[in-house]
Amino acid sequence: MIMKLENLLAKMTLEQKLAQISQCNAVYLHVGASDDVTGPEQELSLKKEEVVAVGSTLNYSGAKEMISIQKEHLHNDPNQIPLLFMMDVIHGYRTVYPIPLALGASFDTALVEECCEMASEEMVLGGVHVTFAPMVDLVRDPRWGRCMETTGEDTYLNCEMARAMVRGFQKSGKAAACVKHFAAYGQAEAGRDYNTTDISERTLRDFYLPAYQAAIDEGAEMVMTSFNILNGIPSSGNKWLVKELLRDEWGFDKIVISDYNAFREMHIHGYCATEKDCAEKAIQATTDIEMMSACYLQQIPTLIAEGKVSEKQIDEAVLRVLRLKEKLGLLDNPYLYADEEQEMSVCLCEKHREIARRAAEKSAVLLKNENVLPFDKNKAKRIAVIGPFADKTMLGQWHCHGREEDGLGVFSAVKRMLPNAEVFFAQGCDEKINATDCEPISEAVELAKKCDDVILCVGEDTYMSGEGMSRAELRLSKAQQTLIREVVKANQNTVVVLFCGRPLVLTDIIDDIPALVLAWQPGTEGGNALANLLFGNVNFSGKLSMTFPRSEGQIPIYYNSYRTGRPFEAPYGSWYQDMPNAPLYPFGYGLSYTSFAISKPEISADTMKIGESLTVSVDVRNTGDRSGETVVQLYICDDYASLVRPVKELKAYQKIGLKPNESKKVSFEITEEMLKFWTANGKFEAEIGSFTVWISDSSNVKDGVKFSLIN
Ligand code: NOJ
Repeated sequence: MIMKLENLLAKMTLEQKLAQISQCNAVYLHVGASDDVTGPEQELSLKKEEVVAVGSTLNYSGAKEMISIQKEHLHNDPNQIPLLFMMDVIHGYRTVYPIPLALGASFDTALVEECCEMASEEMVLGGVHVTFAPMVDLVRDPRWGRCMETTGEDTYLNCEMARAMVRGFQKSGKAAACVKHFAAYGQAEAGRDYNTTDISERTLRDFYLPAYQAAIDEGAEMVMTSFNILNGIPSSGNKWLVKELLRDEWGFDKIVISDYNAFREMHIHGYCATEKDCAEKAIQATTDIEMMSACYLQQIPTLIAEGKVSEKQIDEAVLRVLRLKEKLGLLDNPYLYADEEQEMSVCLCEKHREIARRAAEKSAVLLKNENVLPFDKNKAKRIAVIGPFADKTMLGQWHCHGREEDGLGVFSAVKRMLPNAEVFFAQGCDEKINATDCEPISEAVELAKKCDDVILCVGEDTYMSGEGMSRAELRLSKAQQTLIREVVKANQNTVVVLFCGRPLVLTDIIDDIPALVLAWQPGTEGGNALANLLFGNVNFSGKLSMTFPRSEGQIPIYYNSYRTGRPFEAPYGSWYQDMPNAPLYPFGYGLSYTSFAISKPEISADTMKIGESLTVSVDVRNTGDRSGETVVQLYICDDYASLVRPVKELKAYQKIGLKPNESKKVSFEITEEMLKFWTANGKFEAEIGSFTVWISDSSNVKDGVKFSLIN
């Protein structure tokens, strides 16, 4: 096979090779469409013939269209090398499951794997070969709109989720996962998308890099570089990052692709004076595919002629692309699994809806409940569903082919679930981010007064979070706040259901809310999932994947911050005069319709030898009167180290289910691996000394136990 690829390479001209490592939007390639499209010439500065000569395309799918584009391409391609079709299948292809930040809150890797497997099955029938996922950028700033695409603020949780996603997407062997955005894109200063990232090597290695590495270890076929500069250098041209770290240190020999137009943006950044410079920096960094700009196509021939780049470097990049094409089977069958009929029947099938519904149920977080929930489905006679999102399918920004009409909003779902109840709808107020106006409020208030139960659906619409959707203020709009206050005044039996793609600041309104459910952007089956949760068919088990701050002024705020010398809240302590340090809701937090008691941890020994392990256990009891699941979380602090360590770090968790009054011993093995960090020696290693361990159902911990690591 290797011979076959090398023979193929030997037949290719330089231009044909450069086409393989260039990617453009399928609309430019579309049969008959390129004449009308005012794109390729201006956007890519390419001639039409050059646009046709690319090796892959992005964000275009659907079996029928894919087959026609591929046919047209092969008609023109002298070497008969099919296009790779790539797409952002981030949380579903047609059946949309909850946004990744919500999936993080499920703490359920098996479920996350199932979701990605389902998305992968749908997308390959639609002719997609590579998904630009998982996105594993660690995030500590909810102003950044792309929080919704990550699994949150914790390194360990992100690693577990990254692995699960890669397994799910690639399980069938029919598709490839592209982990992104390498590296540290989530650290954008001031939460503004595409902004600067400046970060020490130890923080990078301890917190930001592990999830990319986990995805790669799990077999991810591609890596996408990030838009941002990392310590002064844009990632696509960062030789240290891509060549030295990713390839030489981690051994990644598969495809690296740039983000959209990121090569040319190296010029806008002020890092490359010309497009020739962009191409040179990128190829020296070993970034293989250029997405949506044409520096390679246009500049590499001159760079080779000048002796600045060798054709061998180009061959290596081309071979990586051809290898993936071969591995997926494209070189033998250019249409692979694209099948219009099957695509129609598999997308949105009952099995896939059930997975999406379960994911929405398991990722919702119950933040507050003062005897409101669950509503009694047998007693409820009149139910009001109010708010700008009361009857909308909340899909989230990257909903791919998902459509609102594929699902039900909460109002329609409740109506369907309770055919004998009277279910009413009122919009209450406008959905816009800056809405102050609350015109239809009196109708909503009157409705709330005459109903037994009220469900108030507020928050952010689908496009208020996601790429380019940063916010400086994270409060609900004035109109939504007024609506909540007035409706709750009219009827205390109200639950606020919050749709959002990031933590919001709820401090101003939280005391007015008797019950609060965080639904995130739950996807196609979100309405049905919420109906099940609110009326107690299903219990809540989600836990926050990201801290909810009290105020934007606390940002960045995350549970695993480094220790300070003045941790106390008093004058000359590390504190705020005007508010507590603590967030409104911490990472790992979430309520249930039942309660759990966790005993003080017991440890199998006071000392642990390097290379050995010990066990720490607790008894967990369901002390309420319903069955339920909780996430038992293990946190560790390295008490004294060669570099100051975080106050605590999540190192393991188990999601367990218990019946009323049932109890279970939950044990964790503490290994040397868990104690490692990037030490003052510039190595990942565990240092001897004492450690504190806690086991809790949130990052608010108490009653730790200690042990010492010894030689
Ligand atoms: C830009 C985004 O940053 C990236 O995540 C995405 O995969 C590409 N566009 C392609 O759509």
